[in-house]
Amino acid sequence: MCGIIGYAGSKNAIDLVIDGLKHLEYRGYDSAGIAYLNGDEIMIKKCSGKIADLEAMLDETGLSSSLAIGHTRWATHGLPTDYNAHPHSSDSVVIVHNGIVENYRALKEMLEERGYRFYSETDTEVLSHLIDLYHKEADLENSVLRALKEVRGSYALLVISRREPGKLIGVRKDSPLVFGISEDGHFLASDVPAFLRSTNRVVFLEDGEMVVLKGGGYNFKDLKGRQLKKEVHTLNWSPSMAEKGGYRHFMIKEIHEQPRAISDTLTGRVLLKEQRVNATEFGLSEDYLKGLSKIFISACGTSWHAGLVGKYLIESISGVSVEVDLASEFRYRNPLVRKDDLFIAITQSGETADTLAAQREAKARGARTLSICNVVGATSAREADAVFYTHSGPEIGVASTKAFTTQLVSLYLFALLLEEVKREGVDHSGYIDELLKIPEKIEMILKREDEIEEIAKGYAKAKDFLYLGRGLLYPIALEGALKLKEISYIHAEGYPSGEMKHGPIALIDEDMPVVILVQKGPLKEKVFSNIEEVKARGGKTIVFTSVNDSALKESDVVFEIPQTIPELEPVLMVVPLQLLAYHIGVLRGYDVDQPRNLAKSVTVE
Ligand code: AGP
Repeated sequence: MCGIIGYAGSKNAIDLVIDGLKHLEYRGYDSAGIAYLNGDEIMIKKCSGKIADLEAMLDETGLSSSLAIGHTRWATHGLPTDYNAHPHSSDSVVIVHNGIVENYRALKEMLEERGYRFYSETDTEVLSHLIDLYHKEADLENSVLRALKEVRGSYALLVISRREPGKLIGVRKDSPLVFGISEDGHFLASDVPAFLRSTNRVVFLEDGEMVVLKGGGYNFKDLKGRQLKKEVHTLNWSPSMAEKGGYRHFMIKEIHEQPRAISDTLTGRVLLKEQRVNATEFGLSEDYLKGLSKIFISACGTSWHAGLVGKYLIESISGVSVEVDLASEFRYRNPLVRKDDLFIAITQSGETADTLAAQREAKARGARTLSICNVVGATSAREADAVFYTHSGPEIGVASTKAFTTQLVSLYLFALLLEEVKREGVDHSGYIDELLKIPEKIEMILKREDEIEEIAKGYAKAKDFLYLGRGLLYPIALEGALKLKEISYIHAEGYPSGEMKHGPIALIDEDMPVVILVQKGPLKEKVFSNIEEVKARGGKTIVFTSVNDSALKESDVVFEIPQTIPELEPVLMVVPLQLLAYHIGVLRGYDVDQPRNLAKSVTVE
């Protein structure tokens, strides 16, 4: 997705905006640009390519400004070219935009009839001329408000004016925009890491809200121009949390942060003395949960895999029926959501367009909505009836890792809570004991990273992978395959082990490594047979297992994970798969933090 950042204040806005863009690179982009106040003039520099190319254009030494806006573009309309890069401008205004103007063609025709000439293929340029049209007889904020009345689509929009130099306006609808407050000035950005080194005091703008910065002050308005009061959040994210902290990539840093992320997510959520879940943390009354008989879970990608694990956990522990949908499918299947059913949106970013649309669909059908989200104040969290924040800290790597394991832990807590409110006196001490040991057990796996790296060396040149898992480990097979394909570009498929003989077995030969997940319990014998079937066809078997059994001695690789209860095995089993994908991606020389074609938060449908 595009990244935007603006700054107005007493420090050098050019340096802060360029630095902010660098901290938004993880969002994925193909061009970059900046506009800054130079006296009463606004200078614009922009180019296709990377931020380093943009910096090369700012080669005048001592360049300084009190106001600047910047943008990294992820092309949606028009190729990644210099002229399509943002900022876009008209006579009196310069803008950067993250989102889509759905009715830009009609607006473009109207503006051309009014004499405007266009220099790009983007939808965004329409916004600059439309605002300019009204700015001829209104101040900047009213020009923006009037223009947006004619716009259909989504926007996180920053606007500066040649007529009112020194003023900076930010406004949002369906695309995230965060306001940062520091002693030396104020920031507007798509995401907190863009200015986290300067401040952790933030205000999350909601849809239809605007902030006007001028003369060192600011005020919030709605789209009718009425003044608003907004809550200031102080995030417990340190700047280093958004940096790499000595790791080679954000992804490996975040894999290693999982013990801490899980501990932080459990803090305050488990009543240690009573060995129960802290019911207040999910924001749903015990009476409501007691009467709950149907849950819908919807998410995308890795978060959807967490939802699949959640179904197993909630149904097996609490007995409540759960349906899991890909968010991009949910609203098109006429889901039979009844009033007061529970809809759970699982989303790291809280801004995934498909997940937001599913959440809104469920709400419109009368469901209660719970968001399991990693970003305080994100749209999903704010629109839901209740929110349960995972506390994994900012996840910068595009491939989701620590957010996933904290989602699993959150769903596990919710399953326990449901049973506690439905069954008087149930004893969860065993479950909770095991849960509290998970961070140290993940540490034990992380200490063996070099073993995983060795395995990666043996298979980094493969063209295809098959990942097999049963029961609670089937979603982990899907997740392991997604991790690999996302960052190594190797085709990898996750499959239920029992399904292999219904087709995929035709793929097995000595060039097809098969990752097989083995858990304790009655299913393990069946998985052993799957391993035999693969071996019999010359396939390579890479086994991750919680059981040590002689049946595995013929496998090409066996990696044993620490012991835990079956319900928590998914949390441990995914960690070596994350490491395997990471090391194969690195061995293949790819940018594992910003894989090609991918974005960290998919805010378009
Ligand atoms: C996961 O590694 C991917 N980056 C992607 O599948 C991601 O999980 C998906 O886009 C959902 O994102 P969200 O959790 O922020 O909603």
